[in-house]
Amino acid sequence: MRKLLVMGNWKLNGTKETVSELIKAFAAAADKAGSKAEVAICAPAIFIGQVEALAKGSRLNYGSEDCDIHTKGAFTGENSPAMIKEFGCKYAIVGHSERRGYHKESSGYVAEKFKAAQDNGLVPVLCIGESEADFDAGRTMDVCKEELKAVIDLCGIKAFENAVIAYEPIWAIGTGKTATPEIAEGVHSKIRAYLKTFDAAVADKVQILYGGSCNAKTAPELFKQPDIDGGLIGGASLKVPDFTSIIETAVSLSK
Ligand code: PGA
Repeated sequence: MRKLLVMGNWKLNGTKETVSELIKAFAAAADKAGSKAEVAICAPAIFIGQVEALAKGSRLNYGSEDCDIHTKGAFTGENSPAMIKEFGCKYAIVGHSERRGYHKESSGYVAEKFKAAQDNGLVPVLCIGESEADFDAGRTMDVCKEELKAVIDLCGIKAFENAVIAYEPIWAIGTGKTATPEIAEGVHSKIRAYLKTFDAAVADKVQILYGGSCNAKTAPELFKQPDIDGGLIGGASLKVPDFTSIIETAVSLSK
């Protein structure tokens, strides 16, 4: 059975003060959830040391929002997966649509990030998802398959034994326009079916999170769907009551 995973993505938000307040609350919520659900926060790199200190000894996992493909060297401004690992991160998000869009990251480049993260002991969280235009044109699965295939080509299907996928329709991110549970489940089940064409056991095991205006109100119906294994949560992970309520939803639906 796949465990539900509730993962926050803070993006470019936070101060030392809010990081402290949020991590203390989410560490307590993660401890309360126990083994019934997993909780993680992906934070801006500059705050990860603070997150490490605050989360110590709790069940709260954490990660980075991105990582570079290099371990070290002359790459000004980047954070290597080895550095991220040294600060106790479990996860590294790769291929978020904001990075694919604003930073022109191709699927091939994202696959290299996925590989670099995994080679350094991190669990990559591969974000995939279509734009509104692609959704309207019925190209959702073409986009998702292309973004998955780049990783399969570089790393092999078995790489997904130790990775997480986040399906995030771009039109739902930060817009308040959550995908309906039917739409989201439809895509999640097709993603799993696509992975199954490569390896059935891997497809069955991999957690596929939903992301895009997932909040305290929309999480319950989304998390009830058979192929939705939790959420990647932006805006709502910056609010203690909202994110805590999503964690409680995951606990109550514990599979
Ligand atoms: P949102 O962001 O929950 O604010 O829509 C989700 C994400 O981009 O990961």
